Amino acid sequence: MAKVLIIGAGGVGGVVAHKCAQARDVFDDVLLVSRTLSRCEKLQREIAEVQGREIRIGQVDADDVAATTRLLERERPAVVINVALPYQDLPIMDACLAAGVDYLDTANYEPPDVAKFEYKWQWAYRERFRERGIMAVLGSGFDPGVTNVYCAHAQKHLFDSIRHVDILDCNGGSHGKAFATNFNPEINIREITARGRYWERGEWKETDPLSVSAVFDYPGVGERKSFLLYHEELESLALNLRGLERIRFWMTFGEAYLKHLEVLGNVGMTRIDPVLYEGHPVVPIKFLKELLPDPSSLAAGYTGKTSIGCLIEGVKDGKPRKVFIYNICDHAACYREVRAQAVSYTTGVPAVTGAVMMVTGQWPKQPGVWNMEELDPDPFLADVARRGLPWVVEERAVAGS
Ligand SMILES: NC(=O)c1ccc[n+]([C@@H]2O[C@H](COP(=O)([O-])OP(=O)(O)OC[C@H]3O[C@@H](n4cnc5c(N)ncnc54)[C@H](OP(=O)(O)O)[C@@H]3O)[C@@H](O)[C@H]2O)c1
Repeated sequence: MAKVLIIGAGGVGGVVAHKCAQARDVFDDVLLVSRTLSRCEKLQREIAEVQGREIRIGQVDADDVAATTRLLERERPAVVINVALPYQDLPIMDACLAAGVDYLDTANYEPPDVAKFEYKWQWAYRERFRERGIMAVLGSGFDPGVTNVYCAHAQKHLFDSIRHVDILDCNGGSHGKAFATNFNPEINIREITARGRYWERGEWKETDPLSVSAVFDYPGVGERKSFLLYHEELESLALNLRGLERIRFWMTFGEAYLKHLEVLGNVGMTRIDPVLYEGHPVVPIKFLKELLPDPSSLAAGYTGKTSIGCLIEGVKDGKPRKVFIYNICDHAACYREVRAQAVSYTTGVPAVTGAVMMVTGQWPKQPGVWNMEELDPDPFLADVARRGLPWVVEERAVAGS
């Protein structure tokens, strides 16, 4: 039995706390901390009511490395699940190094003043984590996360070599709001308004934001227009998949969402640099975040499904093969189980599975910093399916065969 420390009490943090509370056979002590204590108090009450279990709560500003280190030294958890914002990744990793505690997150580090996410900052911790004898697992959400593990499963069991991967992410659900984001608005809008990027034959190719689209048929949802985006798992998968020639990421957006985003961009509301307003510096995107619905508030009444997977093409036993490995997740079913919508659920459940892999030794402890596809996909996929995210492998026709 293990103690888990969850940092971040937002949409994803709520799911992680509910699911850790459900995992009575693994976690005998669940501690949820965040910057705003009232959010932890609300989740503590909700978890007592829905899961019938008391979790402990606390307050910490995870940008303060010394404060987080003191918390870790006092509590000595088996693992920290970081579901605060990407800005907190490095300070929390520093605290884990100081206190000697294993670490897991769902999103890679971004500097607040540059809309750019790359693994280089977190990969730079590899040597220090190895020397300290502790393990960090990066990106254990859905994408990144489960999508990386689908690729690892394909590499281990389904293909001799993989040529093409297209990661397809569709939210076919409806929350009934004119404009809202399904996870932290600031992080979400920074990601979507960035230039597109994909990897082909050893080179990164750039596209204008949202300028490349294609229609894909998503199981459980149907055909949807999808836009090419840069997404962080492309960086590690391009390195870790043998024989890979191309990898891209696609996400669906509705017309109304894109129109709102265009107008907000045109008037400067998505800017990440401070502007002076009546003598006070204000970062427009941070102000916009305060106006938009909190992602966790979308859950009640959300209908429809997410459908996310990896379309993988390659060679098996000398013959071309194409498969789609995917999960379908229902917003309303997530709400009934953990009071969350499916985007938070599909991120939070894999974070818990990753932590279970670490504390139960199903991923043997390997000091260092790891991306998901570098670890054994088999126990992870069995566990994540049991915990609420079953997966399907569907054979697809190969063009020309
Ligand atoms: N891999 C995936 O599939 C995937 C998908 C979606 C999201 N994500 C990631 O999941 C994470 C959480 O997303 P979310 O939608 O849950 O965001 P959210 O609803 O905005 O919640 C973020 C939480 O982190 C807390 N926090 C922020 N700064 C903090 C600090 N300095 N110290 C302690 N706590 C702090 C916030 O506290 P306050 O209440 O005080 O603001 C809030 O409770 C993000 O990193 C996001 O990028 C990953």
